[in-house]
Amino acid sequence: MQQQLTDIRERMIVALDFSTLDEVKKCIEPLQGHIRYVKVGMELAYAEGPAIVSFLKEKGLNVFLDLKVHDIPNTAKGAMRSLARLGADMVNVHAAGGVAMMAAAREGLEQGTAAGAARPLLIGVTMLTSTGLQTMNQELAIPGAVEDVVVHYARMTKQAGLDGVVASPLEVPMIKKAAGDAFVTVTPGIRPLGADQGDQTRITTPEQAFRLGSDYLVIGRAITGAKDPVGVWQSIVAAVEKDRS
Ligand code: C5P
Repeated sequence: MQQQLTDIRERMIVALDFSTLDEVKKCIEPLQGHIRYVKVGMELAYAEGPAIVSFLKEKGLNVFLDLKVHDIPNTAKGAMRSLARLGADMVNVHAAGGVAMMAAAREGLEQGTAAGAARPLLIGVTMLTSTGLQTMNQELAIPGAVEDVVVHYARMTKQAGLDGVVASPLEVPMIKKAAGDAFVTVTPGIRPLGADQGDQTRITTPEQAFRLGSDYLVIGRAITGAKDPVGVWQSIVAAVEKDRS
């Protein structure tokens, strides 16, 4: 049972969507000893620089550095070589950059990973959950259904040798069917029952996301914006445990 609990905690990533180290400290201080994995996005990384990764690693936390690299293959490769040296556990690129860019990113990540150290997981961002059908069809000029494009991007990502994709939990079953069970899925858009939906549209509860096969859940404001973040965290863990028992 304890093993199962530990696994769940290691698979729930708390999004630190802040712009200062002070806010981060205030947020993680009460959660220390509970949470295991955090996500650093562009807002925080650009404001605080690479030192934010070592700060969080020193706190014993795993770090998903969510910088969504998207550039020509050679530049993406160099970016990943540099990112590998920061000590993050998970990094990502946009699948829309294509197979050659993603393969180059993986090569760069391998080159930058210190001998004997584990290579960070490399994840492809499929279609952003904020991109609706109309935007995709008309502005991006990509025809078809969003789900079909997501599955196509997942296949491309696997072909390029990446470890998995970021997607909506609702898309996980089709991604696993297309790319296999071992292909990692990282899913934002998580709301515990009764939580504010905010700007997310295709949401699930943490229990549903795990049931659909998500490997990692990204949870932001439901925890970081709560009056009692530890209480919310504990109730999520309890709800998931109960659902799985
Ligand atoms: O607060 P909330 O739980 O909605 O935060 C979700 C996090 O996941 C945010 O950091 C957001 O940028 C990120 N994300 C997302 N949808 C994607 C990719 C990333 O919500 N498709």
